[in-house]
Amino acid sequence: MPIPDIIIAVDGYSSTGKSTFARKIAAELSFLYLDSGALYRAVTLMAIEKGIISPSGEIDTKALDKALEDFDVRFEDTGDGSRTCIGPRCVESEIRTLAVSDKVSPISAVPQVRDFVDRKLREFGRRKRVVMDGRDIGTTVFPDAELKIFMTADPLVRARRRAEEMRGRGENVNLDDVLKNIQERDYIDSHRAASPLSKAEDAIVLDNSEMTIEEQMEWFRQLVSEKFPVKGS
Ligand code: DC
Repeated sequence: MPIPDIIIAVDGYSSTGKSTFARKIAAELSFLYLDSGALYRAVTLMAIEKGIISPSGEIDTKALDKALEDFDVRFEDTGDGSRTCIGPRCVESEIRTLAVSDKVSPISAVPQVRDFVDRKLREFGRRKRVVMDGRDIGTTVFPDAELKIFMTADPLVRARRRAEEMRGRGENVNLDDVLKNIQERDYIDSHRAASPLSKAEDAIVLDNSEMTIEEQMEWFRQLVSEKFPVKGS
């Protein structure tokens, strides 16, 4: 699909299938895919393991600041995508557990954590030809992104998808717990003071409650052909 060298921001609620969609469009366009949520999840995993966030959710912000100073998180190319690593240790599955999902919203509401992740993302995004998914890519990280998509879907549809994905990884989960986690995260993500989840004015909404991934790809191809028409055709 012909397209100029641009940044594509894919934002939206949790479990709307942003990463599946963003990964697929990146593969179709031969763009680099960057999962900003994975960076927040990696910081959360580190905070849990170091006891910086207590089981009840209290955060030792001083210790967190200190730990971020030399926190070496990166994406490693796997050939057909990338995985998240902290130093030499790859943590792709550890960062997707319910234990991390439970604590990631309060951790990602801490301004110093947002600054840390934003800096990393801007560094990674300098090369353009990037699809980045998250909550505030089109509003805060790359407000000048040339194409912004905002994804949403019915919470119960999202909970079913998330539960299925977690069961597929062998986690024993209950649909009500997953739905509760999604609703809590929606609330915290859209009400936090630092960079809350909100649709950029110039973002295009994709509600995929009743769409297959192939239908979403068709929608995307149509959008690209309208926004970036090939000259002479
Ligand atoms: O997309 P995800 O569910 O893996 O994201 C995990 C959490 O990270 C999510 O609850 C909110 C936070 N997040 C954020 O605040 N800003 C982003 N750009 C991406 C994720």
